[in-house]
Amino acid sequence: MRRPLIAGNWKMNGSLAANAILLEGLRAGAVAVQCEVAVCVPAPYLSQVQALLAGSGIAWGAQDMSVHESGAYTGEISALMLRDFDCRYVIVGHSERRTFHAETSELVAKKAARALAGGLIPIICVGETLAEREAGQTAQVVEAQLSPVLAEVGGQLDHIVVAYEPVWAIGTGKTATPAMAQEVHELIRANLAKRDADAAAGVRLLYGGSMKPDNAKELLAMPDIDGGLIGGASLKAADFLEIARAA
Ligand code: 13P
Repeated sequence: MRRPLIAGNWKMNGSLAANAILLEGLRAGAVAVQCEVAVCVPAPYLSQVQALLAGSGIAWGAQDMSVHESGAYTGEISALMLRDFDCRYVIVGHSERRTFHAETSELVAKKAARALAGGLIPIICVGETLAEREAGQTAQVVEAQLSPVLAEVGGQLDHIVVAYEPVWAIGTGKTATPAMAQEVHELIRANLAKRDADAAAGVRLLYGGSMKPDNAKELLAMPDIDGGLIGGASLKAADFLEIARAA
């Protein structure tokens, strides 16, 4: 049985004052939620999140990390630093990192391996662009993104989460229909199953891309959609909790 996970990706949003209000709202509302809830926040706020969410049952994590263990990598943040703040999760390979920071699928896979070695659960993002979908290349693109992941962490599928985020649905208000999302989730699970069928059956596959309170229920009802990676709607406690209650 896969326990649903609703994870918020705050992206580059927040302030100490705004976070305090949001986190208080989440803490108060989380008691009524059955699924697992997590927030992936900008690194400077990890200490605040650790202080305000400790004991709440809500997990937290980061939005990226270094592929390196430690050393002369100015600006980078290591897995062990994230563990110092009790992070449970780290997002790797978000399309915004792939697009704006030229991250390759090979690098993303190596980051996932480094996260696992550091005791973190990587939320590994995959997804096609609009041009790729329109060219009928969705399966091919997602499989190519997964292939290095299987090579690097295929033996540790029990400890990863995969998020399918079609790039054209991120921040656009356009969501994949539940059937479209399910089709890709099924394909992702089948790919993982080629490496380890038992473990693949237990991997949580999140959908991300304009998931909101009004579309969450039907997306989350699909058999291979085990949760959501939520951007915009994770910045409002009421919306985020409503999505979590739908899971
Ligand atoms: P939106 O929910 O704002 O579309 O963002 C999705 C996303 O990129 C989560 O990682």
